[in-house]
Amino acid sequence: MSLSDLSREDLTELHAQLTLAYEELVAQGLKLDLTRGKPSAAQLDLSNELLTLPGAGKFTAEAGVDCRNYGGTQGLVELREIFSPLLQVPVEQLVAGDNASLSIMHDTLVFSLLKGTVGGEPWVRQPTRFICPVPGYDRHFALCEQFGIEMIGVPLGEHGPDLDQVRELVASDPAVKGIWIVPTYANPTGAVYTEGVTRALVEMPTAAPDFRIFWDNAYAVHHLTDSETPAIDVLGLASAAGHPDRVFVFASTSKITFAGAGVSFFAGSPANVAWYLAHLSKRTIGPDKVNHLRHASYLKSPEGVRELMRRHRAVIAPKFDQVIEILTERLGQYETASWTRPDGGYFVSLDVADGTATRVVALAKTAGIVMTAAGAAFPYGLDPRDRNIRIAPTMPEPADVAAAIAGLTTCVLLAATEQRLAG
Ligand SMILES: Cc1ncc(COP(=O)(O)O)c(C=O)c1O
Repeated sequence: MSLSDLSREDLTELHAQLTLAYEELVAQGLKLDLTRGKPSAAQLDLSNELLTLPGAGKFTAEAGVDCRNYGGTQGLVELREIFSPLLQVPVEQLVAGDNASLSIMHDTLVFSLLKGTVGGEPWVRQPTRFICPVPGYDRHFALCEQFGIEMIGVPLGEHGPDLDQVRELVASDPAVKGIWIVPTYANPTGAVYTEGVTRALVEMPTAAPDFRIFWDNAYAVHHLTDSETPAIDVLGLASAAGHPDRVFVFASTSKITFAGAGVSFFAGSPANVAWYLAHLSKRTIGPDKVNHLRHASYLKSPEGVRELMRRHRAVIAPKFDQVIEILTERLGQYETASWTRPDGGYFVSLDVADGTATRVVALAKTAGIVMTAAGAAFPYGLDPRDRNIRIAPTMPEPADVAAAIAGLTTCVLLAATEQRLAG
């Protein structure tokens, strides 16, 4: 029984029932938070062994490196060897850093703006624009806003952005210097880029010779199903396309080990790695190699990482299943909302009736269910259709996830019926 098929009388009746259900929801005095995609304590506990590593007296890495001392800007090779096959980048083109890939993205942007990319002029001398597949990661957009980079939203599909729009934008405007890409289990839709889409992105002619793809593979190994989609060899494809320097790769162990005390990664062509390290060496005399050593001895091998991620999956996949189940059960028949069913990553992206997302989030907040602000997944926080809500189910306990999503569905339907009755 789609909402659009209901007579005004039936709609009024449904609205009355939903108003009652909403009043009961508010009376429960819930205190639930589904805002940020953080790992739960149970996930963090999986890596508690890290707290005892590298162990008393163990501070020497391969090649005799004393991890307690300065130096080694590229990071420990034994750690890079573990992540090189997982990210599909050569060890010598991989840099291991400190605890946040967001910091590396920030630095890469600042270096490009102030110093220029390999062989290019500082971006800051001209207007700079970035293509932002939407919905996308709010902190990517916050970085652009922070540095005055104008953002152009392009709709993101299941396997990448609308390529015709992207090609047209990059070909016609030399101010378009970059694009944000989350290739595997994109935040928040779960989109997974195919090799074909990737090839198109690295091959396409661009008006800016120093155009860069910011390839943020934050969820490269964060599978929720048995089909563990491998990373795409984006650097190899870019080289083969004659644009070896087009791609900056980012990743981290934030959602593998400890979100606040993991290791981040940068990768690129040999020229981009040399460029990055040259600028980085002005900013630091070396990364936290004790943390690198600790991670290398804990994770041991690429398979060690894969096994740990399967244990994460055992903790969080049931929460995702619950979200999908409740949304389907409570909203399915009304055909007023749609949602993603991600095979990995940290989010479910919910599209409610156009023009009601802000109202839904406000209703939920009054009922003690805090959702990410409507529009957060769009540049400048502006969702042109005011319909997208990002659900982050990993952090709360399963019972709280269920209560929050059930409550949210009441808000979604209440806002949709309100809107229809007002129209
Ligand atoms: C797409 C994406 N990139 C990067 C990050 C943050 O990564 P890090 O903890 O390495 O800074 C997140 C965290 O939610 C994310 O969703």
